Amino acid sequence: MDIQWKDKYATGNEKIDEQHRQFFHLMNEVQEKSEILSKGMVLPRMKLQAAVENFIDFAIEHFEEEETILIKCGCLKCKEHILKHKAYKQILSDCQEKMKKIKNTEDINWFGDMCNFIQKYFVEHIQKGHEDGYLDCIKKER
Ligand SMILES: [Fe+2]
Ligand SMILES: [Fe+2]
Repeated sequence: MDIQWKDKYATGNEKIDEQHRQFFHLMNEVQEKSEILSKGMVLPRMKLQAAVENFIDFAIEHFEEEETILIKCGCLKCKEHILKHKAYKQILSDCQEKMKKIKNTEDINWFGDMCNFIQKYFVEHIQKGHEDGYLDCIKKER
């Protein structure tokens, strides 16, 4: 199911918010393609692969950009936020590996569940930003 951007996810940093919106868009692209496959409809596997690669490349770039801001800000609690990126990158890399091995409907369903998990994790990641000092630093950097 699509995830929709909500104003409450805004950080107050226009550039970061734009990237988060793009993040949602790319996640939905992956989700949409995985749903087509799970319904047994024809979709060249390359399309799913391309959507996943786009999403992961963008995620890694985005995390690096955020980390540069957080390191520059020098906030100690922000280290936790950076660690969360590390965990997230590991999940994305697992997802990438799993995608290469999709063979049957069971694998596709597993992949769909993984997408749902990634979406939930990301929404939580940006919503809980205030807890680890992230929002304060991100807002300052405009
Ligand atoms: Fe972010
Ligand atoms: Fe982040």
